[in-house]
Amino acid sequence: MDKLLIRGGRRLAGTVDISGAKNAALPELCAALLTTDVVTLENVPGLQDVTTMLKLIRNMGVQAERAEAVGGRVTLDASGLSSPEAPYELVKTMRASVLALGPLLARFGEATVSLPGGCAIGSRPVDQHIKGLQAMGSEILVEHGYMIAKVPSGPDGQPGRLKGCRITTDMVTVTGTENFMMAATLAEGETILENAAQEPEIGDLAEMLIKMGAQIEGHGSRRIRIQGVPRLHGCTHRVVADRIETGTFLCAVAATGGDVVLRHGRADHLDAVIDKLREAGAVIEAGEGFIRIRAHGRLQAQSFRTTEYPGFPTDMQAQFMALNTIAQGASTVTETIFENRFMHVNEMVRLGAKIQIEGKVAVSEGVESLSGATVMATDLRASASLVIVGLVAEGQTIIDRIYHLDRGYDQMEAKLRGIGADIERLR
Ligand code: UD1
Repeated sequence: MDKLLIRGGRRLAGTVDISGAKNAALPELCAALLTTDVVTLENVPGLQDVTTMLKLIRNMGVQAERAEAVGGRVTLDASGLSSPEAPYELVKTMRASVLALGPLLARFGEATVSLPGGCAIGSRPVDQHIKGLQAMGSEILVEHGYMIAKVPSGPDGQPGRLKGCRITTDMVTVTGTENFMMAATLAEGETILENAAQEPEIGDLAEMLIKMGAQIEGHGSRRIRIQGVPRLHGCTHRVVADRIETGTFLCAVAATGGDVVLRHGRADHLDAVIDKLREAGAVIEAGEGFIRIRAHGRLQAQSFRTTEYPGFPTDMQAQFMALNTIAQGASTVTETIFENRFMHVNEMVRLGAKIQIEGKVAVSEGVESLSGATVMATDLRASASLVIVGLVAEGQTIIDRIYHLDRGYDQMEAKLRGIGADIERLR
């Protein structure tokens, strides 16, 4: 199993290119299932989760060509899709596989998708996905670990069509909103999504669907209206920049000190994190297609609570906590989205961080220095936070189980090496 070896204590300086967003690319790959035309995605990041999603849709009979050398271009042709099924072996490694359910039901009137099961950061049920798609007229049976979904066929015996309706979810769900939005594009009549997620990736997916001929309004707000159309056509779409990768590099520079430009970074998608970094003492400038961060010495620790967009993202909680561990002063971090998302804390403590967990709150007292240790990555963003503490710590840090990192970061260690980090992969 690959590991990362980091020799900490280096200042970071230079330029990093931010990749396309994982959480936009995954639903957008599934959106290609909605049409028999060719769909081209550009700026698709080179990640394990993208590889898994491509495997999943190829397994259904979709032709998919990936040309990473050509700006991360992926060409998809779902005209020959013959088997609208997502098996457990693939779904278990990536919860986002549930995003195939809405498009498959909308185009074929049937789909069989494995339940994702639990994951390290919490139980993460899909009850809202099921409830919403049932409200659109599909029958969903949960049997032998699978969601077996079908839209009753019409009097002509043809596969049935989903029906537009109003969906109000119990909580804000990102992939739930995406599933309903994709399903509604081909449904009969109008669908109104109340309590919709507002994450930038939802907006990016909506823009892609609109290029395909979908009629969508209100994306980016709490209420999205979709007027169903009989069919969608192909399009070319560029995946939006990854705000979580951007935020991860910003926290890394804030923690180590340095002067780094993030090319293609979108500051307007990261207000909550950038505000906290500025309050901590980092100097951040942003313009069209770039963000520059400068940081010197120990910054000031910041308290925050994670919430849905535009609040502080749960996907940035661990990385900002890494900065807090060596900043000046005490801070509290409250995790409100997932129930078990503090697994990085015990690993950070092994490097000398002072953090205590009390339920949903982690209280930390910044220390002057950390010392390198061997730690274990437990999930995607926890892994990134351990890289940050490793970059700061004196001596060597070895991070085990970095396959978690490879799921969601495009060449992280190469990018860090490019700005002066001493980091290498041990195979
Ligand atoms: C997405 C992101 C993930 C991010 C998360 C929260 C993708 C591929 N992943 O995950 O990186 O951490 O948003 O910003 O975009 N819930 C239910 N029932 C459901 C659906 C959700 O109880 O049917 C709960 C979840 O357990 C969680 C909360 O709702 O506590 C929010 O989850 P959700 O927004 O759905 O997360 P994902 O879409 O899976």
